[in-house]
Amino acid sequence: MGRIRILTDQVANQIAAGEVVDRPASVVKELLENSLDAGATRIRIEVEAGGRKLIRIVDNGHGMGRDDALLAFERHATSKIRSSDDLLSISTLGFRGEALPSIASISRLDLTTRMEEDPSGTVIEIAGGKILRVEDTGAPSGTSIAVHDLFFNTPARRKFLKAESTELSHVTALVTHYALAHPDKHFELHSSTHALLVAPPVKKPAERIYQIFGNDTLQQLIPVAAELKMERAGLPEPPPWKRDEAYRAPEPGFLRVTGFVSKPELQKLNRNSLYFFVNRRLVRDRLIVHAVTEAYRNVIPPTSFPVILMFLEMPPEEVDVNVHPAKTEVRFRQSSFVHDFVRDTIRNALINARPAAAFLQAITASALATPSLLPATSPLPRSPVESSTPLGGLRL
Ligand SMILES: Nc1ncnc2c1ncn2[C@@H]1O[C@H](COP(=O)(O)OP(=O)(O)OP(=O)(O)O)[C@@H](O)[C@H]1O
Ligand SMILES: [Mg+2]
Repeated sequence: MGRIRILTDQVANQIAAGEVVDRPASVVKELLENSLDAGATRIRIEVEAGGRKLIRIVDNGHGMGRDDALLAFERHATSKIRSSDDLLSISTLGFRGEALPSIASISRLDLTTRMEEDPSGTVIEIAGGKILRVEDTGAPSGTSIAVHDLFFNTPARRKFLKAESTELSHVTALVTHYALAHPDKHFELHSSTHALLVAPPVKKPAERIYQIFGNDTLQQLIPVAAELKMERAGLPEPPPWKRDEAYRAPEPGFLRVTGFVSKPELQKLNRNSLYFFVNRRLVRDRLIVHAVTEAYRNVIPPTSFPVILMFLEMPPEEVDVNVHPAKTEVRFRQSSFVHDFVRDTIRNALINARPAAAFLQAITASALATPSLLPATSPLPRSPVESSTPLGGLRL
């Protein structure tokens, strides 16, 4: 008998979970993104013991029929892509078909779901990847998932969890920033003792900032909005012999930047208040951080960081999201174009907002720098390269 064996699904799922789920906040991220992909307009999240004991998410999205609800826990089962071509233009937050089976393999999970048109819903109970119960049930339309006892069967992972308060602050940061990215939706986050965030729908992003951070923060931010027609499409065209008669050259599309950047006098000691969304996906991106640093050069001291909440919108073909297991990093097909546009947009906003003399004052005022904008921690795992690799000869 040979030495090589194919792993069981259960082990394969636990290995996949290692890539996707490293703490309660990453479970919340995956479930939240699923709710948004399902078209939910109301999302309520509840956590106990920093998410270690319980994470419950209830949405009013399109729900699932019984067969789909069972399939959702199979590896590589997704409703979001069909072929490898679809990978070139992903417009949903999920596409790997890995999140639910991964989470279910390292927790005790209950799912209740119903499609609006179905007379009854489905409840599924899973523990450590094993399905224990599948039944019809009465339920409101939408989906509710409860994840109990995260990492109960992977003690090594459990050991890496930080204090409950730390895990809770990661969850809060994550939900807060998704709420900022979707002002038109209702978000709620509760712990067993507190309502941590209650954000009913509002019309404008500025109203959401006011709702969450208050007027003082809003007054220290400058709105930015700019749009640029791309000169060419990022994906190369097929060679002439592969084009049929119906072939049309792709439209280059637009690059849009909207959001808020801080006035020079608002300075932070770390990068935790830099938030970038690419097509509404929260990402960590060195290229954009570099563009921001360039924009603020000689505006704030090199040791300080601004507060940035920035939304980049571009045709899905212009960005490759399939480069990181947790989908927190992206690659732009026209990276220098994106970099320069972000830099110039911020720079212009800063110049228009303040006379030059004020910059001089701000640059000497580093003593006023404060830690990051609430909450104190960043919701995304920090990639080790980010802090140590110089980019273009510049240490960020
Ligand atoms: N809240 C929800 N409402 C409706 N359908 C859902 C919900 N959550 C998951 N699904 C369905 O279950 C499928 C599997 O979800 P899962 O998160 O595992 O994969 P995915 O979102 O397709 O990809 P990824 O692994 O990148 O997140 C989804 O494609 C979707 O069809
Ligand atoms: Mg998903």
